[in-house]
Amino acid sequence: MEERLQKVLAQAGVASRRACEELIKEGKVKVNGKVVTQLGTKINPVKDKVEVAGKKLAAREEKVYLLLYKPVGYLSSVKDPKKRRTVMDLIKDVNERVYPVGRLDHDTEGLLLLTNDGELTYALTHPKHEVDKTYLAWVEGIPSAQKLEELRQGVNLEDGPTAPARVKLLDKQQDHALLEIVIHEGRNRQVRRMCEHIGHPVTALHRSRLGFLTLEGLGKGKYRYLAGKEIKQLKILAGIMKEQDKKTRRKTEGNVEKISRNVRK
Ligand code: URA
Repeated sequence: MEERLQKVLAQAGVASRRACEELIKEGKVKVNGKVVTQLGTKINPVKDKVEVAGKKLAAREEKVYLLLYKPVGYLSSVKDPKKRRTVMDLIKDVNERVYPVGRLDHDTEGLLLLTNDGELTYALTHPKHEVDKTYLAWVEGIPSAQKLEELRQGVNLEDGPTAPARVKLLDKQQDHALLEIVIHEGRNRQVRRMCEHIGHPVTALHRSRLGFLTLEGLGKGKYRYLAGKEIKQLKILAGIMKEQDKKTRRKTEGNVEKISRNVRK
């Protein structure tokens, strides 16, 4: 995505936006080897090479968004001082330094996002944005309707009451049950502690969804890049991008349709 040169310079910490404009006007800024003095010139901060007074500006890292099917037995951290396996051991051929968005326990499997987009990470992990996380939890015993209702209303954990949750009993075996639990908080071992609290400890835990994202088509230990449309939708969900209002959307779609018709001609 192209951005104004003075904005790129300011974001890279060169100087204030106003001072960067002065540097440009004074002919101190080069883009791909050529002096640029025109304010408002747009550049690609990932691809274009920028120099200020002869010094190269560090290249901005491309934002990368990965959806991983984390298996049991991997830590959701970048490094482990005890040298145990981490989810980073599963990520191959990705040059950018990504990190997990939130955590799944060592003994939990399922959907884990990894990115180098700090703004999105912050927004997705902030309880204020209430992004739903869906878990499938196998628990010991068969919880009664009353116990399930307790989970739905919120239970009192040692770090405070949990927010209301959506809970369904999906399956019953002799001495086990499968629950679907949807929460938007992300406290440490929250689902395990909630189930423990009602007297039905978790024996296996799987995160199946994060908002609209699912693991469809992914094998355990595999990952894929999110599509542009998914990234946009995720940013809207996390509250860092506005949904186009209907009028603008119709206009944009109209333009896209016009352009594609022209291209087809
Ligand atoms: N809740 C848990 O108890 N564990 C997880 O890994 C995620 C949610």
